[in-house]
Amino acid sequence: MSHKKNIKVYNLCVVGAGHVGLVAAACFSELGHKVICVDNDKKRVSALRKEIMPFYEPQMAPLVKKNLKRGNLVFSTSLDEGIKKSDVIFVAVGTPPQADGSADLTSVENVARAVAKNLDGDYKLVISKSTVPVQTGQRAKETIYRYRKNNAEFDVASNPEFLREGKAVYDFFYPDRIVIGVETKRAETILKEIYATIDAPVIVTDINTAELIKHASNSFLATKISFINAVSRVCDLAGADVSKVSLAMGLDKRIGKDFLDAGVGYGGFCFPKDLEAFIYISKKLGYDFRLLKEAQNINEEQRSYFVEKIKEHLWILKGKKIAVLGLSFKPDTDDMRFAPAIDIIAALLKEGAILSLYDPQARDEAQELFKDKRIKFSKNSQEALRGVDCVCFLTEWEEFKNLDFKKAKKAMAYPLVADGRNMFQRDELKALGFEYIGMGR
Ligand code: UGA
Repeated sequence: MSHKKNIKVYNLCVVGAGHVGLVAAACFSELGHKVICVDNDKKRVSALRKEIMPFYEPQMAPLVKKNLKRGNLVFSTSLDEGIKKSDVIFVAVGTPPQADGSADLTSVENVARAVAKNLDGDYKLVISKSTVPVQTGQRAKETIYRYRKNNAEFDVASNPEFLREGKAVYDFFYPDRIVIGVETKRAETILKEIYATIDAPVIVTDINTAELIKHASNSFLATKISFINAVSRVCDLAGADVSKVSLAMGLDKRIGKDFLDAGVGYGGFCFPKDLEAFIYISKKLGYDFRLLKEAQNINEEQRSYFVEKIKEHLWILKGKKIAVLGLSFKPDTDDMRFAPAIDIIAALLKEGAILSLYDPQARDEAQELFKDKRIKFSKNSQEALRGVDCVCFLTEWEEFKNLDFKKAKKAMAYPLVADGRNMFQRDELKALGFEYIGMGR
């Protein structure tokens, strides 16, 4: 890859070994920078030192292993050490949602205070990679000013991350754009040099604008999904096919084909929390973002609507056996946070169904979440299907697309497929003797 050549090497500290931080640390070290990745979770850090990854992310483990070996990447639990040894500090700590919808910025403040404490005379650049509400950079800067012990120079900047779980490494090296929110030319130059070997448009803005770009992007994508889900409801009522509607709409370059797949809706740790935070910060600034509230409502409704559709077919769910395949919030990840599966499984249990669950990666996470004795975890899809009255697909894992439906039909007590991601062709399944539930088709 061309990104390996001619890089000006920086000493970087990445604070946080979560999805954003660990991928960024691995990829920055792959670019040639010297990276200390700091996390206060001792278990996580000692596992990473032994090359054990804390979560599944394709292509990440080999990069971590390679760069640990060649000394470009080290892991530490000491924030002070990480800051002292680095010129540039990327903040990739969690900004979890609070009960009122606002983002909890305690960890961001802690890092700002640690930077202030460890400013030792040399210039440092502190960059937020975490998704934060607009004006957080300003606050971080004020915090560093307030707590610093000398007049050491520093800048703050915003460099929001747009990577998707499951495709994070690819997204890092081949981004659609790099957004840099800065206040000084010096900070702009450093950030451009760090990314010099990545071929992507660089958008340079002020810090507030960069922070807002991230919330606006995620909110727009979530709204796009809710839009097509709303269209899918009308399709169901009108007897139209939303898959064809998406296909034709998406070919219009102004609309674009991505994020137009109707189904049980979006989940994950980003969209639900970022919409909530964007609504909150907009309100605080004086704007009621009603459009986003409706996007949230539509998303919630898709889950109960899916269960209603199954009820319509099976009538009474009490005592019925149902297989749920695909538990993570999307394919190629073991992440179950805010996954549609959580609400759907809870609703099916409430109706009295007996469940067999299977996911190619999220089994451990799911076992932690679902302790109900009416739930059985299966080792593979075919095992989950044995004797069930219905199989629900909630995540479009590749292995489900290759499922042997002839074998499945023999194994099931009743051949009902509830396709929460519109992955299958109704006609093909009908030809095999299945009843089919899609979303808007
Ligand atoms: C999202 C954004 O896509 C990234 O650009 C961003 O960096 C990231 O959040 C973040 O803020 O960290 P991610 O949460 O990994 O990434 O997942 P997506 O691939 O965006 O999918 C989100 C959800 O939308 C999934 O549950 C997926 O199944 C659902 N989805 C996606 C649909 O229901 N329909 C679609 O057409 C597309």
